[in-house]
Amino acid sequence: MLDHSHNRPTLPAEIARRRTFAIISHPDAGKTTLTEKFLLFGGAIQMAGQVRAKGEARRTRSDFMQMEKDRGISVSASAMSFDYGQFRFNLVDTPGHSDFSEDTYRTLTAVDAAIMVIDGAKGVESQTRKLFEVCRLRDLPILTFCNKMDREARDTFEIIDEIQENLAIDVTPASWPIGMGRDFIGCYDILRDRLELMDRADRNRVAESIKIEGLSDPKLAEHVPAALLEKLREELEMARELLPAFDRQAFLDGTLTPIWFGSAINSFGVKELMDGIGNYGPPPQIQRSESREIAPEEKSVTGFVFKVQANMDPKHRDRVAFVRLASGHFERGMKLLHVRSKKPMAVSNPVLFLAADRELAEEAWAGDIIGIPNHGQLRIGDALTEGEALRFTGIPSFAPELLQNVRAGDPMKAKHLEKALMQFAEEGAAKVFKPIIGSGFIVGVVGALQFEVLASRIELEYGLPVRFESSQFTSARWISGPKAEVEKFVNVNKGHIAADHDGDMVYLTRLQWDIDRVERDYPALKLTATKEMM
Ligand code: G4P
Repeated sequence: MLDHSHNRPTLPAEIARRRTFAIISHPDAGKTTLTEKFLLFGGAIQMAGQVRAKGEARRTRSDFMQMEKDRGISVSASAMSFDYGQFRFNLVDTPGHSDFSEDTYRTLTAVDAAIMVIDGAKGVESQTRKLFEVCRLRDLPILTFCNKMDREARDTFEIIDEIQENLAIDVTPASWPIGMGRDFIGCYDILRDRLELMDRADRNRVAESIKIEGLSDPKLAEHVPAALLEKLREELEMARELLPAFDRQAFLDGTLTPIWFGSAINSFGVKELMDGIGNYGPPPQIQRSESREIAPEEKSVTGFVFKVQANMDPKHRDRVAFVRLASGHFERGMKLLHVRSKKPMAVSNPVLFLAADRELAEEAWAGDIIGIPNHGQLRIGDALTEGEALRFTGIPSFAPELLQNVRAGDPMKAKHLEKALMQFAEEGAAKVFKPIIGSGFIVGVVGALQFEVLASRIELEYGLPVRFESSQFTSARWISGPKAEVEKFVNVNKGHIAADHDGDMVYLTRLQWDIDRVERDYPALKLTATKEMM
């Protein structure tokens, strides 16, 4: 559990101004559009483009990468940093595909808060719910943005009720919509007593904002048609009676979510939301390790790898490991201890995903995400420190629940397939097993759609059409134990043994009965459904 209590030492100003968060949503709710407006108002891009790929082509890649392709703007994948007022925002991208993968979970281990975007007409959808549950596991504070208010939306109370009931979280309105669909004119900003009016003529223009002295202020009638004003007053009164007021601690504890209403495409409500993250959102939080808690203000630098990405630059076959700094002030060229290999590592060319371009990071602070190019030494879960042998906890690994055989459409291209699969295994996008007898590979995933996503990525990135086919096996177990015993077991069960991408042995089975039998016949062996990440 993260510690959001106020009884902590004051953070150094550079750390206190950081806000590291992700946006979660169901496909089509408007995450990409909202991200784009964030970048626009953060000065990271000059203009919001209107060109976009449609459908699955878009979803299979990171939304950031897709934006880069579609709009010719250079926003690098996975994390973006930009300044907004006094704040430094680190926006971490959650994978854009519509199925769940381990990637998604892990991304959420690198952030301190999340913005949940819902579509005003559709409310809480399946993917929102799943992602929300992951946030709840970590008690992440959540800000809600109810998007597409320029269209016919549901009744405001109904939307709030649905969130409260469906997600079992208290909701407090930070703003209140005035009118709906074609009659939507803007919002009443409850937290700051302002009237925000939407500009329908220019989508990139920020709304007019008028200071209001309470609901009886005559200024309201100047801008809001009488019928809408009456309804607004009634609804706000009801809201005050029925809904909890904003309470920062409850928000930081993850039990209360403030909701803003707006229209991302019309740049409406976006700045209010950004102000909300800045003013109320958590600064970098304490991280946990096996031996102790790590506070962001600690002097020495620590961080953990939460994502590895290959093929970011087609010219180089390098990988970039994304590191969330847990503590300290990092400076370029620092020598850090790579805890798993016990070897020092000079971090000479770290990348900070700043503004319009990737930039060499000269420095970074706790809460920041830096990218470290490497040749495969850095793995998900790895710790980097100034000497302490820390092991961060809370980075989940999942048991592959579905197994399928994979074949290259062109048998001559088997080597290419192997390379592609190894890349995805390293990225943590799938588990890849090579049976010790015969040819071919078995791929293990958590959700069925991941097979489609993998197939489309292999085709896109390696120009290789592939087929996934059902496998005779239904589950995989990592084998550990005394060496002689493991060898004996492997020899007797060759038809069931495969190696994962690290060369570790896995037992493939069809039935739980098989596993029970092994446990009975080989008491010295240990079979585990997940492999330690570190
Ligand atoms: P996603 O990343 O969550 O999948 O959503 P994305 O931002 O791509 O938005 C999905 C669709 O919703 C897009 O339409 C986008 O233009 C539209 N949209 C986003 N915000 C708003 C809003 O505030 N109001 C309205 N009315 N629509 C919004 P599309 O048809 O897929 O693409 P396009 O042809 O409009 O570009």
